[in-house]
Amino acid sequence: MNKAVFDEIKMITKAIIATGNGDRLEKGSKAKDIPGRTEIDENSEAKNSEIQSQSYNEKSCARLFEIFSSVTEINNNSCFKEDFTSTILKSGKAISPIDAGTCILDSSRTIAFIRATYEAIERAKEKFRGDLPIRVLYAGCGPFAPFATALSTVFSQNEVLFTVIDIHRRSIESVKKIVTALGIEDNFSDIITSDATNFKSKHSQKYHVLIVEVMQRALSVEPQVAIMANLIPQLIPGGYAIPKEISVEAYLGDPNLIFSLGSQIGPDKLNKLEKSNLLRLGKVLDISPKLIRKMVKKKVDFTKSDKPILRSYIFIPAQKSKEIYLMLFTRVELTGQITLERMSSGITIPVVFTKLGPFKESEFIEFGYTIDGDKTGIRYRAIRKESVKLKIKGLFNFIITNVIR
Ligand SMILES: C[S@@+](CC[C@H](N)C(=O)[O-])C[C@H]1O[C@@H](n2cnc3c(N)ncnc32)[C@H](O)[C@@H]1O
Repeated sequence: MNKAVFDEIKMITKAIIATGNGDRLEKGSKAKDIPGRTEIDENSEAKNSEIQSQSYNEKSCARLFEIFSSVTEINNNSCFKEDFTSTILKSGKAISPIDAGTCILDSSRTIAFIRATYEAIERAKEKFRGDLPIRVLYAGCGPFAPFATALSTVFSQNEVLFTVIDIHRRSIESVKKIVTALGIEDNFSDIITSDATNFKSKHSQKYHVLIVEVMQRALSVEPQVAIMANLIPQLIPGGYAIPKEISVEAYLGDPNLIFSLGSQIGPDKLNKLEKSNLLRLGKVLDISPKLIRKMVKKKVDFTKSDKPILRSYIFIPAQKSKEIYLMLFTRVELTGQITLERMSSGITIPVVFTKLGPFKESEFIEFGYTIDGDKTGIRYRAIRKESVKLKIKGLFNFIITNVIR
């Protein structure tokens, strides 16, 4: 790969960091400094910033995908069967290298993770200034390790050292190709094929920053939680875990109406919908490093089981229509400043469970998060009010979240 390509990735990465959600530019930067953007007057830029930033973000991610997939040959023309093959682990499904590679095209997700990683590294540099370079552990890096490879064009090896792991050998070979082609070897201490649910760092060394993006909407299918359970204890005290919190909430509504608005509709439209067409029932789960540490301490078993490791109960109020659906929305807080709001990316669009029809009025739904191979995720069942009352032992609260078994 020539220097021009390195410089192009660096420019894209700098623009991603500078523009945030697209409407803010770093001091001294101008719209015209960003590739693919034409110069426009200040007012129209403000008015159209959301639309422009979305298309700019999409273009940037499409370009990163184009560069990485051509260097590595991880693309639909690959002649390696492994590139198309996912692996079913006890803890969840590891998607194939090709599928993992295309995740980069979920632009709001990719942009948010790159920015969050940048922000966490900057904060860690300040907080742990006597312990540089900052050690970043990136689990489930896929074939392009985009949060590490992109940021290695803007950070020196004295600032950051990445350890990247993936269960798929072909993905790791691919990351090595990119790292060599970009000449960013010095930013990587390890590029390893390993199962992140049991990976242990060399010499029990701890990391300042941890990134785990091994998830689908409503924490279904992939092993995000089991990986966090193994890796959060390997984070240095005061270190930064990305994501900081994953919340799943239950709603009643008409999914056709929601999906007709398209993906990436963002929180504003959704808030409007919530006023008229969506009924928020309550929190189903809130996964945070704090909760994971608590569960690890309580010796919760994160291996395959058909029993939930987390449960919550939500009351279903009486409804006029039974033609509405139970849905789960996800919100992913990456750092204190950067959040993937509901409906803003592939990992935060809703999971549609079922029509309300079968539920009786005033019933509770029990939600249970279960680690069970490719059936990992949140399950639900209706339960009678009396049995919930027994479970909550007199707590006067209809919704209890994070009830550890
Ligand atoms: C959703 S993809 C994300 C890829 C990449 N981080 C990105 O954002 O473009 C998840 C990745 O995690 C990997 N993975 C899943 N389970 C894993 C495990 N237990 N250990 C290591 N990697 C795993 C998959 O192989 C896949 O590459």
